[in-house]
Amino acid sequence: GARRATAYVCSDCGSEHSKWQGQCVDCGQWNTLSEIALEAAAAPVKSGVAQSRRSGWAGKVDPPAITALKDVTVSEESRETTHIGEFDRVLGGGLVHGSVVLVGGDPGIGKSTLLLQAVAHMSQTLPGLYVTGEESLAQVAGRAVRLGLPLEGVHALAETCIERILEQAAPMGPRLIVADSIQTLWTETLTAAPGSVSQVRESAARLVRYAKETGTAVFLVGHVTKEGGIAGPRVLEHMVDAVLYFEGESGSRFRVLRAFKNRFGAVNELGVFAMADKGLREVPNPSAIFLSGSREAQPGSCVMVTREGTRPLMVEVQALVDASPLSNPRRVAVGMEGNRLAMLLAVLHRHGGVAVGDQDVFVNVVGGIRVQETAVDLPLLLAVLSSLRDRPLGEMTVAFGEVGLSGEIRPVPNGEERLKEAATHGFKRAIVPKANAPKSGKVAGMEVIAVERLADA
Ligand code: TYD
Ligand code: MG
Repeated sequence: GARRATAYVCSDCGSEHSKWQGQCVDCGQWNTLSEIALEAAAAPVKSGVAQSRRSGWAGKVDPPAITALKDVTVSEESRETTHIGEFDRVLGGGLVHGSVVLVGGDPGIGKSTLLLQAVAHMSQTLPGLYVTGEESLAQVAGRAVRLGLPLEGVHALAETCIERILEQAAPMGPRLIVADSIQTLWTETLTAAPGSVSQVRESAARLVRYAKETGTAVFLVGHVTKEGGIAGPRVLEHMVDAVLYFEGESGSRFRVLRAFKNRFGAVNELGVFAMADKGLREVPNPSAIFLSGSREAQPGSCVMVTREGTRPLMVEVQALVDASPLSNPRRVAVGMEGNRLAMLLAVLHRHGGVAVGDQDVFVNVVGGIRVQETAVDLPLLLAVLSSLRDRPLGEMTVAFGEVGLSGEIRPVPNGEERLKEAATHGFKRAIVPKANAPKSGKVAGMEVIAVERLADA
């Protein structure tokens, strides 16, 4: 059919609509639709597959034929190591040829550093191109020298126009392109300003198409906006093969790279790094780095064993409960979901008999890490109670467990592994769901207290 010249894209969920509406019908958010210009010649792509199908129907190539799945030749995706173990881990075992990976994070978190390190090491064996739209070539080279990176074989280009980038890239034939950042790129075919949703989206679509056509792997660097999405373009999340977020606290030197979406690997896998004076250093054994130095028991603190990705991680959950001057006391959660905090406080009231309705409640996961799994429930409520009563939980105590709406404590996966990890770090006591506790009540000399109900805990 005839192509529309414009469309409306939701900045929250990325869905596309043909006309403007106050509310996005897909995700229900209000005032998130913004107009984008569609390029007449090349419609935006959602994925490489959709694109090849589209061009197929346009009659340029043979139309796809129906094939029995068993007759399709399956080739193992060939992967390239980034020479950074923690990066490979988050990618699912290395970078897949022809894949497009979005690396998002706050400005200054270390995205350019990480990708410069990766491209420098990878360029020793395959041609790599680092395209910078934010820094001059001298700045990039200066940083590479300071980081002591091998410069042989690393090519760089300071350019923001996507047509000129692809024109320059073609004769060089890179196998890897880093575009830093996607927000600076723009295409001549659109009149919208660089950084606008339509420019970011169309520039990314061009790079996706280039990656699929040539088998070049592409990293897109994206700054996260205040709303938490990648500059309007949550849109980009649909277009790329993998989305990795770089997280960390400004005060802490530790950084966590998290797979949020990955067509070629597990999601929620974590890679852990430390920002040092020679760039990002891997932390291959990160289990205890998020614990604060002193392990003296403090009111309002509870250590938990979380298991994000494939490794157990010890993290400290802190709570501050304080009489509120407000008629509507505050609930602030950092490092975990705010709605879950509100729900858990309601369970604490109904099934634990502890009311905090007139108190401000602040909770924080130490070290700038986010805990997404429900195993945080029990340690969180223990920290809240400990702060409310101003009594520490007891020395060297850990906890984990999900709390249900009727006050039951539910088991979480990999309980035994979590307990062993805590025992390894010298913890003496664990408060865990009954189904996660060993019959003997002990793990490697650590006392395990099994609880079935919130009131028991
Ligand atoms: P950068 O990679 O430029 O962040 P992004 O691309 O995500 O905006 O990282 C910038 C920060 O990292 C800056 O505040 C300085 C710090 N840094 C170090 O501490 N050590 C280093 O070796 C480098 C390169 C940066
Ligand atoms: Mg940067």
